[in-house]
Amino acid sequence: MAQTSVESAHDASRTAAQDAAPTPETPSGDTLVIRGGKPLRGRVDVRGAKNLATKAMVAALLGDGPSILQDVPQISDVGVVRRMLDAYGVAVTSPEEGVLVLDPKNVERAHFAQIDALAGSSRIPILFCGPLLHRLGEALIPDLGGCRIGDRPIDFHLDALRAFGAVVDKSYEGIRITAPHGLTGANIELPYPSVGATEQVLLSAVKARGVTELKNAAIEPEIMDLIAILQKMGAIIWTEPNRTIFIEGVERLSGYTHRSIFDRNEAASWASAALATGGDIFVKGAKQLELLTFLNVFRKVGGAFDVQEDGIRFWHPGGTLRAAQVETDVHPGFMTDWQQPLIVALTQAVGTSIVHETVYENRFGFIDALVEMGADIVVHEDGLESVTRRVPRRKLEQAAVVTGPTKLHGANMEIPDLRGGFSHIIAALTAEGESRLTNLSLINRGYEHFAEKLRDLGADFSIED
Ligand code: EPU
Repeated sequence: MAQTSVESAHDASRTAAQDAAPTPETPSGDTLVIRGGKPLRGRVDVRGAKNLATKAMVAALLGDGPSILQDVPQISDVGVVRRMLDAYGVAVTSPEEGVLVLDPKNVERAHFAQIDALAGSSRIPILFCGPLLHRLGEALIPDLGGCRIGDRPIDFHLDALRAFGAVVDKSYEGIRITAPHGLTGANIELPYPSVGATEQVLLSAVKARGVTELKNAAIEPEIMDLIAILQKMGAIIWTEPNRTIFIEGVERLSGYTHRSIFDRNEAASWASAALATGGDIFVKGAKQLELLTFLNVFRKVGGAFDVQEDGIRFWHPGGTLRAAQVETDVHPGFMTDWQQPLIVALTQAVGTSIVHETVYENRFGFIDALVEMGADIVVHEDGLESVTRRVPRRKLEQAAVVTGPTKLHGANMEIPDLRGGFSHIIAALTAEGESRLTNLSLINRGYEHFAEKLRDLGADFSIED
């Protein structure tokens, strides 16, 4: 599939500061001062997954009646989607913390400028396309935010929408998509099992005329949870082996009531924080099946865990940690979002670890700061040949070679993106001395109440303006 510059949806003029613009969900100060060297000990609760809750909110646009979403985390990405839904006339209320009621009865058009201003720090707006085409016959895509972890194009999304019969017009304002004759089921094969593009196809196909066959689909647990939501709404969707999903379009969908799947990226982040700091964290709400691959690597590195009824306890059992070889991959592989926190723990392991990032082309941006703190990490921009690799080689991959153990010392750093930023926080907690981390509001895109959680785990820190 050819990729044009607009389809790359990367606007270099949008700065990290704009992405981190304060929202009602962000903490008041934007600098985190950490005095490290203390193991994190205690318990944290993880709630619904950022990467499901935001999509489930968009799915509510497809229903004839109100939907109820439970276990919604209080993070700024949820706030962005909430304000966008509001702009489109969806009444969103929160009768209690963690519960959203989304009523799409009065859906109406919004303006480019309004959507552009609201979309700010999120990549979710692209997923409004299918539901808006069904409801209004038109969708607008502003400049897309999200973490700066590569070019993050949207060509798969636009090609899929075109396959359904949508017309894509690009202008200086953004992208206007219309469906003069409605959407019709299609045979689509994704060039790569993209999470977002799979969600795009699901949200478009459920009310399209006829059957859609999607090949090379992403099958992440959050996608399966979205399928469960759509089925509750009245959709007919089935999966077949080899990443194939069939969707039989239906005329009407109702609202849903659903409790979001837990945030496995947050769970893995706290697990790595326990390991790196030599601590012991019980992650309430974490479940084993969605973390199988992470747990294997955690054990191989030398971490201990105990799967309990209501969560998983992760701890450093003493002794030395072991180096590991890790390749990020689509599900059921090792998630790209897990590598950054794990790399901090690997700086404390004995020997040479190799981490291949094969999903995004630029997800090692956080490493420079770790090196400044004393870590021995070399990034190979074109990856490394390896005899033991499992994931087929991709053009965009990079490899990080981590040699440990190294003592980390405090440093000043700017949080670059969500997961990389959390890794900086773990590194600062592991390091001797004081660290200052700016751009803190980026963390609130995906980590709920993280300052309170850090406090409960005994971290020594303060937040400044
Ligand atoms: N890609 C294209 N063209 C497209 C779409 C994707 O080339 O049109 C490429 C991407 O550039 C990337 C690969 O396909 O190289 C995978 O991207 P994918 O579409 O799967 O990612 P996404 O849907 O944009 C979601 C999560 C990410 C998570 C990835 C991988 C959300 C909002 N984001 O992104 O989460 O890393 O899937 O699992 O669900 C995060 O939580 O911090 C985060 C970045």
